[in-house]
Amino acid sequence: MTIKPVRKAVFPVAGLGTRFLPATKAMPKEMLTVVDKPLIQYAVEEALEAGIEQIIFVTGRGKGALEDHFDVSYELEATMKARGKSMAAIDGIRQKPGSPVYVRQQEPLGLGHAVWCAREIVGDEPFAVLLPDELMVGGFLRQMVEAYNRVGGNVIGALEVPDSETDKYGIISPGKVDGRLTEVRALVEKPKGKAPSNLMIPGRYILQPEVMRVLDNQAPGAGGEIQLTDAMAKLIGDQPFHGFTFDGQRYDCGDKAGWLTANIALGLAREDLRAPVRDFIATLDL
Ligand code: G1P
Repeated sequence: MTIKPVRKAVFPVAGLGTRFLPATKAMPKEMLTVVDKPLIQYAVEEALEAGIEQIIFVTGRGKGALEDHFDVSYELEATMKARGKSMAAIDGIRQKPGSPVYVRQQEPLGLGHAVWCAREIVGDEPFAVLLPDELMVGGFLRQMVEAYNRVGGNVIGALEVPDSETDKYGIISPGKVDGRLTEVRALVEKPKGKAPSNLMIPGRYILQPEVMRVLDNQAPGAGGEIQLTDAMAKLIGDQPFHGFTFDGQRYDCGDKAGWLTANIALGLAREDLRAPVRDFIATLDL
């Protein structure tokens, strides 16, 4: 089996963000900031750090701010230069011209459908999927790529959650465990009854292109949506399939409490912000 390198990453960013209204009424939820960076930038930086060369956004109506964010802003650059200010703040996200690609998901039919919308750009090679709601500190995709380069096939993130939360996520039915890799025997999206385990899929995937052929005909599943989890489940047995547990920190920023926690944690991790944030927390009578 030859293991082809992972060069492309798909970012499904068409979601409406109803959980964050009114903040997301006129602004994409992926532009919500944690400290001073939008969520989408954390995910793109994670992908670039993992060696990804092509960024593919599956976007939708009202998401123009995302395109502007990854474009060169001449006004901003000229102003910063004229004021003798450092370019570091805006250079961090500069992409090779033509590298980010935008495709539209015309209808909100689910995550599986969003990923399928990128099929022509992904072509016949393995690809990553990153859900930017899930903020990972510590290089999750890089660790997954390293594992993938050893075992090939499909490698998806795996993370333990309390039993009470398994109905919110895609859940792995685990087989043999080898270090941080767990064989995936089956997958179920948002299980209603008893879950096969408490290993959930935290929005990081390295997939073989065959999943697109499954998605060509994937029927709606949980919540009436076309689920990526259901399509991936059909590859098990035909291709190697592993879960990979992350050595790092995850913040579920699709949730207000998770997003607030991320702001505090990442604020405290910043040298320029640590003292005032810590001092404020110390004054709280909790
Ligand atoms: C999606 C996936 C689910 C995954 C989750 C991670 O669900 O369908 O398998 O566990 O993201 O956040 P959603 O949060 O879009 O309902």
